[in-house]
Amino acid sequence: MTATVTVDGVRFAAEAVLSDGPDARVHRGHVLSGDAPRPAVLVAYRQPRDVAAIAAAMRAATAAGVATPEVLGFAAYDRSPIGAATMVVELVPGRSVPLELGRRAAARRAFSELGALHAEIHAVAAPRQLASAPSPAVLLERFEVLAIEPPTGLAGAVAALGGATSAQLLHGDFHSRNVLIDATSRFVIDWSFAAAGDPLQDVARTLLLPKIATALVRPLSLFEQGIEARSDDYRSGYRAQAGALDEARLHDWQVVGAASALCDAYGNALSGRAGKSVRRELQVARRLRSVCETLV
Ligand SMILES: Nc1ncnc2c1ncn2[C@@H]1O[C@H](COP(=O)(O)OP(=O)(O)OP(=O)(O)O)[C@@H](O)[C@H]1O
Ligand SMILES: [Mg+2]
Repeated sequence: MTATVTVDGVRFAAEAVLSDGPDARVHRGHVLSGDAPRPAVLVAYRQPRDVAAIAAAMRAATAAGVATPEVLGFAAYDRSPIGAATMVVELVPGRSVPLELGRRAAARRAFSELGALHAEIHAVAAPRQLASAPSPAVLLERFEVLAIEPPTGLAGAVAALGGATSAQLLHGDFHSRNVLIDATSRFVIDWSFAAAGDPLQDVARTLLLPKIATALVRPLSLFEQGIEARSDDYRSGYRAQAGALDEARLHDWQVVGAASALCDAYGNALSGRAGKSVRRELQVARRLRSVCETLV
């Protein structure tokens, strides 16, 4: 497809769709403003997103030495020429960690490096524009309004976590496919869920992501050992960089994270947002409940 659009004064010619996920359609193309066409990426979000805050998060990370694509322009959905929150960023080199390293031994080391990189992000104070990550107390209310039984251990975890205390930069979706590497560079992409909050909430999310992904397609009893090995490498890299890892608090955030994914599955069953049948979403919800129970 060849389509050209001007976002925030930046003229972008779309050439190919890189990804078409539930959250965004991502195009590769060129920015035509300036002397020579510059390789770039346009992200069109499917829901309203605070793109100014996402841009601020990326710039804060870059300023602290964590490489992210340069933000070239953005438009909120109500001011966007395409009717969707839109962002144009520099096309960075490299391929995602799993694509670049596959199952080679280097992949193990890469996961500990990802842990260290995540801790580097967490050392950055969140920019003021960035909203706080949802508080655990709100989650209990979600169970109430959805009239579903909270998983065992959720109330205890929420109580132990208490009110939010820190406002560090959280990536929100930190996993191996959102880090692009090559021999000389390492870029963190996909900041659309960036938030301010407790770093351990973000670490918990990273550890849960493969379990949530598994729950979407098959029963959790089939957990691959590989997930655990990579998670251990990631944790040790994180601990080495951050100097510590509060395991009890991390555990409580994992219970909260899994419970939140469980609520999402119920929400999706009602809204149809994820494109699955009611029966499939309720099956996912049951599997996520068992993730919560295994954590306790
Ligand atoms: N700035 C960039 N430079 C180079 N490649 C990029 C850039 N942004 C995104 N990509 C490529 O497009 C893919 C999807 O982008 P992104 O991760 O932002 O969206 P997504 O909605 O999470 O999609 P997915 O679910 O496929 O990860 C990435 O995995 C990467 O290969
Ligand atoms: Mg991504």
